[in-house]
Amino acid sequence: MSQPPHLRTVVVLAAGEGKRMKSALPKVLHPLLGRTLVGHVLSAAAPLGADRTVVVVGHGADQVRAHLAEIAPQATPVLQAEQLGTGHAVRIALDAVPEATGTVVVINGDVPLLRPETVGALVEAHEREGAAATVLAAEVPDPTGLGRIVRDADGRLQQIVEQRDATPAQREIREINAGIYAFDAVRLRDALGKLSTDNEQGEEYLTDVFGLLRSAGEPVAVHVAADHVETLGCNDRVELAALRRLLRDRVNEAWMRTGVSLLDPETTWIDVTVALDRDAVVDQNTQLQGATVVGSGAVVGPDVTLVDTVVGQGATVVRSHAVGAEIGPKASVGPYAYLRPAARLAEKAKVGTFVEVKNSEIGAGSKVPHLTYVGDASIGEQSNIGAATVFVNYDGVHKHRTVIGSHARTGADNMFVAPVVVGDGAYTAAGSVIVDDVPAGAMGVARARQRNIEGWVLKRRAGTAAAEAAERARRGEGAVAPGLPASEGEAIHGDAEPVGGAPGAGDTATE
Ligand code: UD1
Ligand code: MG
Repeated sequence: MSQPPHLRTVVVLAAGEGKRMKSALPKVLHPLLGRTLVGHVLSAAAPLGADRTVVVVGHGADQVRAHLAEIAPQATPVLQAEQLGTGHAVRIALDAVPEATGTVVVINGDVPLLRPETVGALVEAHEREGAAATVLAAEVPDPTGLGRIVRDADGRLQQIVEQRDATPAQREIREINAGIYAFDAVRLRDALGKLSTDNEQGEEYLTDVFGLLRSAGEPVAVHVAADHVETLGCNDRVELAALRRLLRDRVNEAWMRTGVSLLDPETTWIDVTVALDRDAVVDQNTQLQGATVVGSGAVVGPDVTLVDTVVGQGATVVRSHAVGAEIGPKASVGPYAYLRPAARLAEKAKVGTFVEVKNSEIGAGSKVPHLTYVGDASIGEQSNIGAATVFVNYDGVHKHRTVIGSHARTGADNMFVAPVVVGDGAYTAAGSVIVDDVPAGAMGVARARQRNIEGWVLKRRAGTAAAEAAERARRGEGAVAPGLPASEGEAIHGDAEPVGGAPGAGDTATE
């Protein structure tokens, strides 16, 4: 006959203020490599497949509730208006799930390094042994401030004693309560009803449940964590930083073991939510955050921050910052590029140095090599955008789009005043302010005609080094341009051209 499946309830304790964080943000909402503290705890519990998840909220309850609605909408927040202790918190949580039978897993909200495997092993041991209560314990180098596991002469759990209530001999114990437990729901409810506040803090201690059950002859058990690091809590920002380093090392090691090269793991910070393909290479000083994905053979770094950005196979990203961008296969970005949301680079596209791209597509093989802002634009394939171009997308009220076709060559120092279209194969002259569409195959020229006022320096700046240089040139002793001797009169040349100067070689040459 098959057994009925175990009913499981998860209770996360997250009502505390976390005074020592000295923060307006509730402690459990502090971020740690891609998740909040409570987010890490909930994901460690997720594989249990609990029927109900209850999160006890208190300090900053509205903020915590809003966060839970985002990351764990299936969880039920329950308010503990006054923090009267961990036992009180669990009592309130169970009141919200009167139907709960089977196993209740309780996890402190501030143990973000806890692994799902460890919670799973704790619950498995607890259910296998039919214990009334099982605590996750760990042997730690420094037990200061933590509850101690007090065992009897036979090595069985006798009670859990808080540091403040411990005798000097008990304080020597280095086996501590990690703040993670499995209980039998019915026996837990019964014991919670019997808790006293007769302790140093005048609180209802969840940990006292163990002594009570044991005295009533119920089986209580200890499950020892293989790695005490998983049980580390977080009370202030120094500890948070230490946890961040530990988690970084864990994440980095796991990626290296799957075949990703991290050239300097110490300066590489990868959120737990990031995905990397085999043979991706991450160079030093790089942060990969959120939903970032890096394809195989791509090289990211040094000095790169990617947030929610997808990097295709074989692409390179050097000394750049990207948020919400898509970088196609074999595309190249940087050094010193800034890709903003919905910047989309197709295969082999290039975004070079001091280039900012926002909400724009850059087609396959197209290049935006230098000193350019591309906003709200679509650029076709195999086009080249001249240096120092601005896609003028904003009229002060509305944003407009610029469309550049394929195989276009736009000149250096252009302004594309959107909405405007430059057709396939079209050119534009350097220094143009393009306000009208340029048809396919045309050369768009939009700039003031140049005039040279001959002899101006000799006349208006006499006695300066410039005037002396001009004078030498006039005598044929100049450093450059022997064909262009300085003239003496103030004649103005250049008016003969009908349009602002015929574009010549170099007008678009900024590849
Ligand atoms: C608790 C344990 C201690 C254990 C340690 C592990 C008790 C009495 N002690 O101590 O044995 O070694 O965790 O880190 O349980 N919380 C509430 N409501 C409350 C009080 C606390 O939700 O009324 C929450 C806190 O937000 C926190 C968790 O419960 O997430 C633990 O509370 P905390 O005050 O940190 O307990 P510790 O003194 O660390
Ligand atoms: Mg604590």
